[in-house]
Amino acid sequence: MMKSAGHILFASLTPLPSVTLKNHGRLSSNLVHGNITKSRKLHHYHQKCQFHKDSIMVATRYPPPWFSVAPMMEYTDNHYRTLARLISRHAWLYTEMIAAETIVFQKGNLDRFLAFGPEQHPIVLQIGGSDLENIAKATQLANSYGYDEINFNCGCPSPKVAGKGCFGVRLMLDPKFVANAMSVIAANTDVPVSVKCRIGVDNQDSYNELCDFIYKVSSLSPTKHFIIHSRKALLNGISPKENRSIPPLKYEYYYALVRDFPDLRFTINGGINTIDEVNAARSEGAHGVMVGRAAYNNPWNLLGHVDSAIYGAPLSSLTRRQVIEKYQVYGDSVLGLYGPKPNVREVIKPLLGFFHSEPGNGLWKRKADAAFLHSTTVKSFFEETLVAIPDSVLDSPITEASIGFPDVFADSKSRLPSPYTAVREEELLYA
Ligand SMILES: Cc1cc2nc3c(=O)[nH]c(=O)nc-3n(C[C@H](O)[C@H](O)[C@H](O)COP(=O)(O)O)c2cc1C
Repeated sequence: MMKSAGHILFASLTPLPSVTLKNHGRLSSNLVHGNITKSRKLHHYHQKCQFHKDSIMVATRYPPPWFSVAPMMEYTDNHYRTLARLISRHAWLYTEMIAAETIVFQKGNLDRFLAFGPEQHPIVLQIGGSDLENIAKATQLANSYGYDEINFNCGCPSPKVAGKGCFGVRLMLDPKFVANAMSVIAANTDVPVSVKCRIGVDNQDSYNELCDFIYKVSSLSPTKHFIIHSRKALLNGISPKENRSIPPLKYEYYYALVRDFPDLRFTINGGINTIDEVNAARSEGAHGVMVGRAAYNNPWNLLGHVDSAIYGAPLSSLTRRQVIEKYQVYGDSVLGLYGPKPNVREVIKPLLGFFHSEPGNGLWKRKADAAFLHSTTVKSFFEETLVAIPDSVLDSPITEASIGFPDVFADSKSRLPSPYTAVREEELLYA
């Protein structure tokens, strides 16, 4: 009974009204095959300065992306995003990276990869790929789901993607291809497009080389928003996990981009762990801040402050118990939607950091481990495990964020690299 009610609920979580595809004709096919004409390049070059960051580059019906939750494969799935949205109304949410090929080859099974609940807006779809035709088709197929922005992955160092031709962060070595891909994506959707990248790859890590990438991509395509994971990627020798901690963060590159490309929007990412640091980054001039691991590992304390501390909304009176009650209804509605999947463990996974540092957290996790072995519903899982958490934790609303921004970015701003001198227009056109 619970299950069928749940399935009805999930049905209402699936595709939103379709949006019109544009440029199905000649332009679109030119773009798919990468034949961007010189006049089109010039057009982009001359048009690139005419907009206001918060109104044109982002979907205007939502608050601007001052705060977003990073795309994380195997983490920022529907379950996590549902939880995140229960805690923060305004944070922009990203999907995990989905390969264009997956979308194209799973054409008959797209809900599994692309469906999301309407409450998840504003939501950005991140795609990865290196084949323009598949990128075009994937964008078209994704359109009917109503994402608010399409983001292209140029930052993933995983050998699984970086080693296959040119995919993920390796694409930073080929800005013209990225510009073509972005033009293809933009030609096949009506929503804004953006790129997520690193600050460099291996020895190609100077500020000037980063600027060349940004300059070429933004000049040769409609990309006006870049998310900058502010460390380079090392392609050989270290794991994807190490690639998120070993190369040092260089926020000075990020702030120099903000200085040198005043007509583009930049979101800073990497190593930002608290709401105070988010505010500190913004007070130093960051247009937007993206947080990954901290938002996953400690969702209540991080996301719980986003609406009030970043967007100026009144402090919420929401409690963890209320979030859990809503999440349970969602969780039980999706259990077994795809055969054995998702199971209780998968649905509960995003909650494993929900009681971070609170009394009862350790005991709750031990009870959770035991309950995973036999729970068949999310409701029964909570009934069995929540006894470990004191009522004072479950029933307290989010506390006020501390005020007083740490100085973490001021230092970076004091050592900005020299200003970028753009490549000349002819070099850009004939490169
Ligand atoms: C488990 C995991 C999976 C990730 N998957 C993606 C991904 O699919 N696409 C992407 O652009 N970045 C991915 N990233 C990188 C994050 O988006 C982010 O750039 C990185 O974690 C740095 O931000 P943070 O220090 O706030 O976590 C992933 C990171 C983690 C930890």
